[in-house]
Amino acid sequence: MKTTHICEIVSFDEIAQDIFDVTVKCEAMAKEAKPGQFLHIDCGDAADNLLRRPISICDAYEDKVRFIFEKKGSGTDYLSKKKVGDTLDILGPLGNGFSVLPESKKPVIIGGGIGVFPLYMLSKKLDNPTILLGFRNKSRVCMEEEFSKIGQTTVATDDGSYGYDGYAVNILEKMLKNGECDIVYSCGPMPMLRAVKTMAESHGVKCQLSLEQRMGCGIGACLVCTCETTSTGTHKHKRVCKNGPVFWSSEVTLNG
Ligand code: FES
Repeated sequence: MKTTHICEIVSFDEIAQDIFDVTVKCEAMAKEAKPGQFLHIDCGDAADNLLRRPISICDAYEDKVRFIFEKKGSGTDYLSKKKVGDTLDILGPLGNGFSVLPESKKPVIIGGGIGVFPLYMLSKKLDNPTILLGFRNKSRVCMEEEFSKIGQTTVATDDGSYGYDGYAVNILEKMLKNGECDIVYSCGPMPMLRAVKTMAESHGVKCQLSLEQRMGCGIGACLVCTCETTSTGTHKHKRVCKNGPVFWSSEVTLNG
């Protein structure tokens, strides 16, 4: 049974336009958190904020849990007005995160936009990962320095205003063709996840994807968050909040 935690905010920074980097103090969650899991955060009692917002864990260490979110909508607007010393009501950590396979020696992480944040804690658990980060343009680039301390990191921008001119998946495709990758971990917009799934599977490389989905309860009770799987029969749909948000690419269709 998951419980809520009242957590003090110990750091709060806007690291890019409308992107907020928050660390809260909570030893219980920090000890339990795994890469790829998420927090369900109370966003106040305004009429349209009654539901908690799911936000991925970026990092957890000692008695701290860090998450990064983009302000888009009333819930995250509420969160963006918080400051150091305020408290947040957080349910978590929730969901199933990434699996680190000891036999994989050439892991590649590929994230797009705000999807790079859940990959940070994972990158620290992997042995010498290659990290590909895709953003719309230079103004959206985040966490390059932090990822660079962990593994060989390449930033790509859609408009070529910084780093590699093009999509991060183009780099992944070359690596797969050259045999430079034996497992892929990804989080980002759906078109990117679809491309990653197709590429990895066509090269016979294992792949884990973190899905983003609208959520209600966050604990598997309301069925708001289902996704289509490759199973047949009664188990065709799974709950992203409970069975995911991380799935093996072979488990999910990414339709719709
Ligand atoms: Fe309620 Fe997933 S959000 S079942």
